[in-house]
This record gives sequence, structure tokens and C-alpha cells, in this order.
Amino acid sequence: ADLPAFANEPFTDFTLPGNKAAMEGAIAAFKSKLGRHIPLTIGGRRTLTEERIVSINPGKTDEIVGYVAKATREHAEEAMSAALEAFESWKRVGVEERADLLLRAAALMRSRKHAFSAAMVVEAGKNWSEADADTAEAIDFLGFYAREMLRLSEANALRPLVRTPGENNRIEYLPLGVGVVVPPWNFPLAICAGMTAAAIVCGNTVVLKPSSLTPVVAYEFYSLLEEVGLPPGVVNFLPGSGADIGDYLTAHPRTRFVSFTGSKEVGLRINKLAAETAEDQRWIKRVIAEMGGKDGVVVDETADLDAAASAIVAGAFGFQGQKCSAGSRAIVVEQVYDEIVGKIAAAIGKLTIGLPETNAQIGPVADRRAYDKILDYIDVGRAEGRLIAGGGKAEGNGYYIEPTAFADVAPQARIMQEEIFGPVLAIAKAKDYKEAIEIFNDTEYGLTGSFFSKDEDRIAYALEEMFCGNLYVNRKCTGALVGVHPFGGFNMSGTDSKAGGYDYLLLFAQAKLTSRRR
Ligand code: ALA
Repeated sequence: ADLPAFANEPFTDFTLPGNKAAMEGAIAAFKSKLGRHIPLTIGGRRTLTEERIVSINPGKTDEIVGYVAKATREHAEEAMSAALEAFESWKRVGVEERADLLLRAAALMRSRKHAFSAAMVVEAGKNWSEADADTAEAIDFLGFYAREMLRLSEANALRPLVRTPGENNRIEYLPLGVGVVVPPWNFPLAICAGMTAAAIVCGNTVVLKPSSLTPVVAYEFYSLLEEVGLPPGVVNFLPGSGADIGDYLTAHPRTRFVSFTGSKEVGLRINKLAAETAEDQRWIKRVIAEMGGKDGVVVDETADLDAAASAIVAGAFGFQGQKCSAGSRAIVVEQVYDEIVGKIAAAIGKLTIGLPETNAQIGPVADRRAYDKILDYIDVGRAEGRLIAGGGKAEGNGYYIEPTAFADVAPQARIMQEEIFGPVLAIAKAKDYKEAIEIFNDTEYGLTGSFFSKDEDRIAYALEEMFCGNLYVNRKCTGALVGVHPFGGFNMSGTDSKAGGYDYLLLFAQAKLTSRRR
């Protein structure tokens, strides 16, 4: 009752000397623990394994962040048993207590926010603001889903069922069972925390398989949950190979749901595997999959061109373009096309590239695979468009790539259609705003989009016609805030699960109606 209303965690202003010093201190503290051995944890028991995942700093590749235990199928089986056992008690724990665990986790994370951000600077290659926003979002998810669970538990009061004489009817939200949670490396804290918190606050138990690129950040989150009183087995921390234990757990007959955020390929594979029914399986598995995007910004001739160009650059190159929400396409009407292209090239020219610890705007991409793939796409782009900025590797002892933009790209070009997940922007020209919107919609994805215009009729048209889960007008297409911009997309972008929104927890619950007569 005395819980304050949800409010988003504010971002840190690193121009203030105190905040800058605090962040530098946090980075130094995190780096003093480089090369740690990180265990997997099943039912609260920590285990180190002989085979390990080696997590490195993508901005300084000779720096090993941690040696992380790598689970086998036997570990996966044990984790499933631990989660099943814990489910029997956790599902009976009161809603307030489950919500309170999340609130305590949010408070503790807030008190250590720079430590979490520092871990992402070093392990994921985020600059300070990107890391700070990721931590803020994690705190938000914990606080938001705690309140959402409390609200769901009051469903009978908040949204009373239609009354019928002589009957007492009630609805209650029960958990599903054991969920396999597979978060991505690009929001290694926020999305890991959000997916895990949503599952457990509903009373489910979890096998958490972190991304192999950011297992140390995920472990820091897991440890925080333990610190605030997570009962053993409610979350089992299980780093390992997706193709091995990920598949095994997805196919497991006791898995009740899979909550996944990552690539389209893996999401579709999970969906297919989860659709198979084992002989002794008693349910249809639920799959919540948030996948890729080929998001874009549409600009008409009435738009504020400076605002549009800076939003295009921020949306395309924030965290090196490694966001499913990244605006990797810009579609501009011909009257202002040359002007916008010039402004984009100029803005890219001002971006600084370097080691994330030094808070350069542009850091490395995730790993060798991403690096090679993105450089290949840049080669494809050379044949498909006119290079206006960047175009190759950048200096540094890591996976650095120049922010790169191609103009005059045809709507069907590969770099207009395929998700690159890196700092590569494709710009296309349209004859008018309607054609621009047609080009925007011509994609298998449908996650985010932006429309820049001052014309009310066109804005109304864009709001109606642009087909994506998160559509923004006169602002960039990244940076959704929890509770403010529930986030999720259409078509091959996933199941539109709207993280940070009022519908999200229902995906982790099943409603039981009881109808009682005397
Ligand atoms: N939710 C993240 C964003 O909006 C991906 O950028």
C-alpha cells in the first residue's frame, strides 16, 4: 500500500565530475577482478567446470574478463530438476513476497549502479551512457514487474468480472512452471534482468542460460538476486552453448516455456523445437521470442532536418548499431535528400571511436564473428550504394569498425533488407512520403520506426500506415523506456511481447477462473 508509483530510473550525467569519478572508480574496481572464475549455479550450489567459456573484452581482446563454467547436458538435467523442485514451493509463496524480492533487487542495484555499468563497459563494449541506460532499464524492469504482479493479483478488484446472481466468480493468475530464459548479449543486464524477473515474479522457476559473450554481467545479476534472498533453485544460472544445452532445454519435456531474445535464426529454431511434443509432455510450450529488426527512419521535406539527421545517426550507431531497435535504414524524400545525406555524413565524421573505458562514443562490436560479418556487409554495401562515411576497420586492439553509411541504396538491396547488427546505415531516396513509407514497410521485420515531419496529415498517415511495434514521431527509434514505451515487434521481429508494458506478465502466467455457488 505504501509502495511509491513506478518512476523511471534517471540517467547519470557524466559531465558532472563526481559522477565521472564514480564511474572511473567502478571501472577500475571491475578491472581489478579480471580473469575471475565464474561458476554455474544449480539449486544454489556453485560448480566450476573443466571446460569453460572465456569471456573477453571486445575493446581490448587480450583482456580476459572471466573464465566461466560451461554446462553440459547433465548439468542442464540437474538444473531442470532443481527448478522443478523449487517450483513446488515458489509457486505457493505469496505475491507480495515475490514482488518484494524484485524491489529489494532494484534497490540494491540502484545503490551499485556504476558497478553494473562498469561490467558492461568492459565485457560488452558499451560506452558509459549506453551502459548507464542499460542499468537504469534493469532497475526499471525490476520495479515495474514487481508492481505489475501486485496489480494482477488485484484483478478481481480492479477489473471485476460481470456479476451473476448466486455465484462468486474470481480470476487468479497462476504461474506456468519451469521456464528457460535465454537473454541476449546486447542488453546483457537489462534484458537478462527483465526476462528473469518477469518469469519469477509470476511464480515460475527458471533455468537462465546467459549469452556466452556476456556471462559475467549475467552472473553479477544472478548474484544480486541471491544476495537479496532468492531461494535456491528459483533461478539456476547455467552458462553454456546454445546449440547444446539451449536446444536440450528447449526440447525438454518438462520445460513449460521459453523466453528468448536474440537473432531471428535462433528464435525460429527455438519456436520449431518447442513445437515438438514429447511423449510424456503435458502441455503446449509457450515461446516468447523477441528477435531482430531492420528498423528505419522516414524523413519528409517539412521535417526539422537537423533533428532528423541527428536522430538517424543516434539510432543507427548507438552501441555500434547492435540493437534490434537500431535504425539501420533511412528513407528520405528527394527534395531534402542531398541535404540530409550531407548532414548525416558530417555527423558521422564527428563521432569518436575508441576504448569504451575512455567513454569514446563508438566502441567495438561484439566479437570476431560479428566483426567479420559486418565487414562482409560493408563489402556488399560498396556494390549496392555510394559510400558516404566510414567503410572499414578502425584502429584499436579490438573489434573496431568505422561507423559506415551508404547512400542511394535500392529498397531491395541486401543492406536494406538484411539485419547487419552493426554500425552500417543504408539510405534510400523516395519520391514522396507515401513512397518512403512503402519502402519502410517493405521488410520481413517490424520492430521500430521513426517518422520525421511537421505536417499533421502526414503524421496521421504515418501513424496509421507504418507497420511496426514501436513507432516514434520526430524522435529516434531506439531507447524505449520501461512503462513508457512497451517494446516489441511484428512479423519476424518476434511475438510482440511488449517488454516493459502492462501485457507482459500475462505471457508468464495462466488465468484460473473459479466460480462458486453455495
Ligand atoms: N528496448 C531497446 C530500445 O528501445 C532495444 O532501444
